[in-house]
Amino acid sequence: MSAIKLREGVWSVGVLNPSLRVFDIVMTSPYGTSYNAYLVTGGEKTALIETVHKDYFDQLVGNIQEVLPLEKLDYLIMNHTEPDHSGSVRALLERCPNLKVICSNPARKFLNAIANEDFPCQVVKDGDTLDLGGKTLTFLSAPLLHWPDTMFTWDPADQTLFTCDFLGAHFCEPTMVDTGIQAEYRGRYEAELKNYFDCIFGPFHPAVLAGLDKLPAEARLVCTSHGPCLTAATLERAKDCYRQWAAPQPRSAVKTAAVVYCSAYGCTKALAEAMAAALTEDGLQVTAHDVVFDDPAALTGLVNDSDVVLFGAPTLNRNAPEAIWDAVHAVDAINTRGRAAGAFGSFGWTGEAPGMLHEQLRQLKLAVPAAPFKVCFVPTQADLEAAAAWARSVAALAKGPEAPAAPAPAKAKKYVCSICGYIYDPAAGDPDRGAAPGTPFEALPDDWTCPLCRMGKDKFEPVD
Ligand SMILES: Cc1cc2nc3c(=O)[nH]c(=O)nc-3n(C[C@H](O)[C@H](O)[C@H](O)COP(=O)(O)O)c2cc1C
Ligand SMILES: [Fe+2]
Ligand SMILES: [Fe+2]
Repeated sequence: MSAIKLREGVWSVGVLNPSLRVFDIVMTSPYGTSYNAYLVTGGEKTALIETVHKDYFDQLVGNIQEVLPLEKLDYLIMNHTEPDHSGSVRALLERCPNLKVICSNPARKFLNAIANEDFPCQVVKDGDTLDLGGKTLTFLSAPLLHWPDTMFTWDPADQTLFTCDFLGAHFCEPTMVDTGIQAEYRGRYEAELKNYFDCIFGPFHPAVLAGLDKLPAEARLVCTSHGPCLTAATLERAKDCYRQWAAPQPRSAVKTAAVVYCSAYGCTKALAEAMAAALTEDGLQVTAHDVVFDDPAALTGLVNDSDVVLFGAPTLNRNAPEAIWDAVHAVDAINTRGRAAGAFGSFGWTGEAPGMLHEQLRQLKLAVPAAPFKVCFVPTQADLEAAAAWARSVAALAKGPEAPAAPAPAKAKKYVCSICGYIYDPAAGDPDRGAAPGTPFEALPDDWTCPLCRMGKDKFEPVD
């Protein structure tokens, strides 16, 4: 692909990868992708926004040199440092040793460990600007879209916003603009926009809503890091879709429980049924879900939206069966911290499965009981009663309403998140998530997480 002029002084210089079929291990990309990069020139200075995957560095250089000699680059703006964008940074710095890298504070840390190189770097904060001569770029912090390092770059003169992964799609469109998509491919592009949203931003819905609020209303062109740039009509539609997809789901007024299990000969199933019956009797809204036979589409919602989740599996060849591991893998570990969960199952002679599942749930930072529940072969009536009692003990771990916190002492310290820079101010608290104004940092519950990047309390440091 050649350099493509998008606006006066704005070029697309990225590369196409039509062959990519799997991205980041977990995501399919049936129509390939593009690694986008952009050149922005002002009267005096020139900035490159992003690089490309390291395998495509030579093509990136070729595209830049269609517009200007590589040595003329003054700045490299890294909106996000995942290696599909930062993979060529090191090679580029070798060719342009005076190139100044502009990025957020977390991006600087990440880039040091990715490029393994000392380089001239300017850390920018939300609202900082960069004057290119007659064209001033503004940086807007946008943590978690897609990593804690992410920011947008806004070019008001051209009404053009560079959002990196935000509003992107793995779609290989040679014209680099949405208006170039052939009519019969339009639906496929929109399906990939959704696929990308689910896979990349699924765990970050609050950050998506914050990012949408941050988009300058005057933006007429959004240049993402994958797929075609969005012109006004597509942009409006994509914004509406993102807002709808990221909207919080209404929580049930009644406490909910999911009993997710598999069973070869009905022993684990009998335990699951006893547990489901006990929790139903206690007034919970319970769904029992056989991971082999029931609708797989329901699983993710069940394990992530229920107040209590019980995972049951027999031990087969000293392990738990793949189907139940898949169910545990569907847990969104970023957003379910502290959720009540437990593991149970029937076994014959070694019985590892419940313990393995229990350990994994604990490592995912769910609230688990002291021990998993297991029964040798066919459960007796006493076993079924014990199973019911154990399920009740797990349900008791589900949180009730937060008790109001004691007011903060007059000079309670602020704490800063070392990953994304969010500052916890005890005077403001975090009322959206149960911490009333006046809650000192130390009084936040252990499972409290950074409202921006969802890191735990252990990643916070006191502000002096
Ligand atoms: C293929 C196979 C492998 C098994 N391997 C083990 C094992 O390694 N350790 C063990 O404790 N039980 C093992 N078992 C026994 C089952 O865990 C036991 O039959 C259990 O009661 C099955 O529960 P279910 O009816 O819920 O499937 C195995 C069973 C099968 C069918
Ligand atoms: Fe990314
Ligand atoms: Fe990306």
